[in-house]
Amino acid sequence: MKIAIIGSGHVGLTTGICFAEKGHEVICVDHDTDKLARLRNGEVWFFEPKLPDLLKKHHSSRRLRFTDSTAEAVKFASVIFICVGTPTGESGKADMRYVEKVARDIAETMTDYRLIVEKSTVPIMTGERVKSTILRYVRGDAHFDVASNPEFLREGSAIDDTLKPDRIVIGVDSAKAETLLREIYAPFEAPMVVTSIGSAELIKHASNSFLALKISFINWIARVCEQSGADVHEVARGMGLDARIGAAFLNAGIGYGGSCFPKDVEALAAISEELGVEAPLIRLISQINREQRERFFEAIQHELWVLQDKTIALWGLSFKPNTDDLREAPSLWLAQRLLKAGAKLRVHDPVAMPAFKRAISDVYFAKDPLDATSGADALVLCTEWPQYREVDLAKVKATLRVPLIFDGRNCLDRKQAEELGMTLIGIGKQRIGPRGKH
Ligand code: UGA
Repeated sequence: MKIAIIGSGHVGLTTGICFAEKGHEVICVDHDTDKLARLRNGEVWFFEPKLPDLLKKHHSSRRLRFTDSTAEAVKFASVIFICVGTPTGESGKADMRYVEKVARDIAETMTDYRLIVEKSTVPIMTGERVKSTILRYVRGDAHFDVASNPEFLREGSAIDDTLKPDRIVIGVDSAKAETLLREIYAPFEAPMVVTSIGSAELIKHASNSFLALKISFINWIARVCEQSGADVHEVARGMGLDARIGAAFLNAGIGYGGSCFPKDVEALAAISEELGVEAPLIRLISQINREQRERFFEAIQHELWVLQDKTIALWGLSFKPNTDDLREAPSLWLAQRLLKAGAKLRVHDPVAMPAFKRAISDVYFAKDPLDATSGADALVLCTEWPQYREVDLAKVKATLRVPLIFDGRNCLDRKQAEELGMTLIGIGKQRIGPRGKH
């Protein structure tokens, strides 16, 4: 099948490459000519495992090409996937200007039948809007269908998630659209859920909000653990073995970040309120998430008493492991708060330091994790990269000025910290080490 992808970011590029991998002919569009030049060179401008290799492979297979012309793509393909950004706009609602522009551009170029598929995460009822926009701008009597096919890939495992999805959701209102999408997804072995367009749109927002709810729920339970002497890891394990609850997304920490959960939760609340449905539960998800990082900062401040001129090592800058994405990363917020309070930072991340430097530069960028902890008054961990999980705390202790650790992801070896006489403060866990003495 000839497929066009409009918008070659995390979702668009991954989707395009995976369609090529499954044998389709794909053209990817982006308006950023620098990015296109890099892509044509086989280079991806963000960190995503496996993506560069597949990009190179399909340059050679000739099943994947790039253009800045939507018109060229619309002419080439029979199915067009809209994968442009929907950033948070005013009052938390998604800003739909890019989707609207793409719908207009498609309408003005198509001369015969096209299936236009929304893959960007969009508010419910966007399908209707896309349809009416195309009808308004289409020239002649070109027929078309609109469909919704939400994406569920995670950054860091985007290729595996796309090639082997848990499910494929397609929202359609015509048999032709369903047939075309079934044909595209035939090489993917996954259960297919066929719904109305509105349901498909809501499945995406509801799924992300539910996952975010699980995280905020366990983070709230973590607070109860801290006050009651319980351990959040034990509680989550005991809950997660119930098949109805499931163990995933019950890791307590300093909260979720990224380009999806914060934006999608806000957008679901905003659109449901606009529809006249109050959303206190959804609003609380974001509130608890914001409080997590604030509480973490307060714990650091409380323990160190005065932050002015204290040196703090910060491990993990990306919003989660296996990506260099810093969007809504708790580390950025925390670094700004610590710097404002007068602390000096020695930061480390396996891949996100260049991106971090573009946002915050007045910190020391460490060569490796132990260079970061060297001479520091405390270590603060924001992201659970595997190399931090596996670190030998004896080496960390030897470099720190004070053997004090704040583990924002509960990923360090508590037993070893205890044996070494270190102080370790986690989330939803009892502190290791004496109070007021390190
Ligand atoms: C998320 C969803 O998981 C994908 O299904 C969805 O397609 C994507 O958003 C999207 O809408 O495009 P992603 O943002 O890449 O994917 O990352 P996740 O792995 O879901 O993690 C999100 C955040 O939650 C991270 O900050 C992570 O540290 C945090 N998290 C996750 C926790 O704090 N605790 C957990 O138990 C799990």
